[in-house]
Amino acid sequence: MASSTLTAPKRTTGGRSSIGLKFLMAASGLLFVLYVLLHMYGNLKVLAGEEAFNDYAHHLRTLGEPMLPYSGFLWAFRLLLIVALVTHVYAALTLWSRARSARTTRYQVKKAVTASFASRWMRWGGVALLLFIIFHLLHFTLLKPDLSDRFTAEEIKASPYDMVVGSFENPLLVLLYTLAMIALGLHLMHGVWSAAQTLGATGTPAKARLWQTVGKIIAAVVVVGFLIPPFAILLNIVGK
Ligand code: HEM
Repeated sequence: MASSTLTAPKRTTGGRSSIGLKFLMAASGLLFVLYVLLHMYGNLKVLAGEEAFNDYAHHLRTLGEPMLPYSGFLWAFRLLLIVALVTHVYAALTLWSRARSARTTRYQVKKAVTASFASRWMRWGGVALLLFIIFHLLHFTLLKPDLSDRFTAEEIKASPYDMVVGSFENPLLVLLYTLAMIALGLHLMHGVWSAAQTLGATGTPAKARLWQTVGKIIAAVVVVGFLIPPFAILLNIVGK
């Protein structure tokens, strides 16, 4: 009897500890925050016109030359993002299945219900974001949109601006991106706060409030910043 009470729970000895997984989620999540802010800034260059936007896209590929080959920096960063994404999803799924097997529904208080709403949103919102990222990569990077009625394949290849402008003239695509950005905003709002908590930055009520506000501000900036270019294109404020 005594020896069984002294034995550590199987879960913490069999794999990574839950706090270790949460730390991995926080670290990879913070890299995504940095990435989305940079990506958003790059997209906003659409407002500065075709030359500025295409120059920026080209510059990303020549960064680090001649020390690095063409697109070398971009590929290194892509690799880092892929590792971070696999880590983030693996940690999320593991924590999800642990929470499911450890769930006790009978004695939950109101606070736990609110927390479970947020975590439920994080899970299904996270799944939605993953689907969006797959679609987004197929759309703009791996396949490129079919805009043959408007531009030649060479024009699309040479001008990312044409590709983006041609795409967001379609209201359905703007709607899809709007929904995805709202999902991203909600995910970021809770994710930033959650990461701060994991990293021990929310020790006092004032600090907890501060990180909640930071999460809300980052979410608002990202949603608005990402949605300006598609709406500017749809409303013909920028175009060809
Ligand atoms: C309205 C929102 C967005 C627009 C208009 C947009 C636009 C674009 C465009 C035009 C590209 C291709 C860039 C190029 O080939 O030079 C791209 C690539 C990419 N986007 Fe987005 N994006 C948006 C939101 C997002 C979000 C929210 C994420 C992540 C959560 C994301 C992740 C990526 C990734 C990973 C790539 C591939 C980058 C690479 O080729 O290395 N995008 N995006």
